[in-house]
Amino acid sequence: MDKIEIIGRQTLKGDVRISGAKNAALPLMCASLLTDKEIILKNIPRLGDIATMISVLEHLGAAIHWKSHDIISLNVAHIETSEAPYDLVRKMRASILALGPLLGRYGQAIVSLPGGCAIGVRPIDIHLKGFEKMGAHITIDGGNIHAKAPQNGLQGCDFHFPVVTVTGTENMIMAAVLANGVTTLTNAAQEPEINDLCDLLVKIGADIHNDLKGTITITGVSSLNGAIHSVIPDRIETGTYCVAPLMYGGDVTLHNTDPSYLNSFLDVLKSIGAIIKTTDDSIYVSHPGHSLKSFDISTSPYPGIATDLQAQLMALMCVCKGTSTVLENIWENRFMHVPELRRFGANITVEGHKAIVEGQYPLKAAPVMATDLRASVSLVLAALAAEGKTVLNRVYHLDRGYENFEHKLRSCGVHIERKPNHTPSVNLVQTIAS
Ligand code: EPZ
Repeated sequence: MDKIEIIGRQTLKGDVRISGAKNAALPLMCASLLTDKEIILKNIPRLGDIATMISVLEHLGAAIHWKSHDIISLNVAHIETSEAPYDLVRKMRASILALGPLLGRYGQAIVSLPGGCAIGVRPIDIHLKGFEKMGAHITIDGGNIHAKAPQNGLQGCDFHFPVVTVTGTENMIMAAVLANGVTTLTNAAQEPEINDLCDLLVKIGADIHNDLKGTITITGVSSLNGAIHSVIPDRIETGTYCVAPLMYGGDVTLHNTDPSYLNSFLDVLKSIGAIIKTTDDSIYVSHPGHSLKSFDISTSPYPGIATDLQAQLMALMCVCKGTSTVLENIWENRFMHVPELRRFGANITVEGHKAIVEGQYPLKAAPVMATDLRASVSLVLAALAAEGKTVLNRVYHLDRGYENFEHKLRSCGVHIERKPNHTPSVNLVQTIAS
């Protein structure tokens, strides 16, 4: 497995172009299952998770090709099979997003039940309850979800989400666009990625009204067209690069982004002393040159502070003056980065879903291990402020969600290098040995 080495105590200066949002691109790609016409998506990031989604969709019958570096064409003239097997789903939980569109267009689906992951149990019970409310018959057999729509197709319904769920909302929207009648979703997720999905679906002929306050009304139509659509900028990647120059100093301008997706996050950065200037599509972040103040955050669904930025903000707390706290309200196990941050010398105590960070304990480089996507990037941020050379292992987590990661940091002056692992894989060693 590759490693990344980062030389610490570095100030950043430069410009970063933000990529398209991974968590918007994945449902948009699944929406291609709803129509036999071509969907062209622009601003698609080249990431591990996108490659996995391409494999899932190709398995189901999609013809997919890259038209340029960041433009992809998807065409599902026929659904070849309605089964997404474990081997693909286990690589990426977002594969569950195939379930709604398959049920809507094909009337049945078999999708492997995703297991837990590093950040929590991650149930999908609400997705399944929603499909049942639309008349689907759901059983779990052999680790697979078997879902079957009634003979005359899914039926519109009123469904209240007991918990705000992002992919649950996306799955229900995609199931409802071809259903009979009207579906009204309440307590639906309001993340910008949901609105991006609705925008594409409306372009291809769906009838959707999103009040942007948690109620989404979908009137089923009989068929859908093709469209060209550009994926929104990645707000989590944006937030991550906002934190980078605050770790040890510097200033960075982020381009091709949308600051309005990050209002509560940027308010926090301003409140601790960071200098932030925004335009419609850029953010300038500068360190004030003196200690940043400690702060408290509590993660919540959009428009609150995103759980996907919690680990990065915790790394920032380590260099702020005084005591900061984190309340993680979305994922029950999303403190896996804490033991790794402690390896740098950070003083962090965890009490249930609360973490208390005593700032400005001197950070020293250490070999550390990534446990999930956002945890790994928080370790790189800590490494920027640490004295010495940090070695980050299990880099594949980063590759799932951060496009051109080292290149973007290097263009801001960071000494960061990937060390490819040329050790033969276990299989190869076994082959040679046998
Ligand atoms: C999405 O995951 C994101 N993934 C996650 O980003 C993100 O952390 C999460 O939303 C929260 O913002 C994608 O968009 C592909 P949820 P999702 O369903 O949809 C509970 C990253 O780093 N719940 O909104 O799987 C659940 O346990 C990833 O890019 C149920 O109880 O998350 C959690 O507490 C990681 N039953 C809460 O809802 C259900 O059926 C929110 O989860 C579904 C969810």
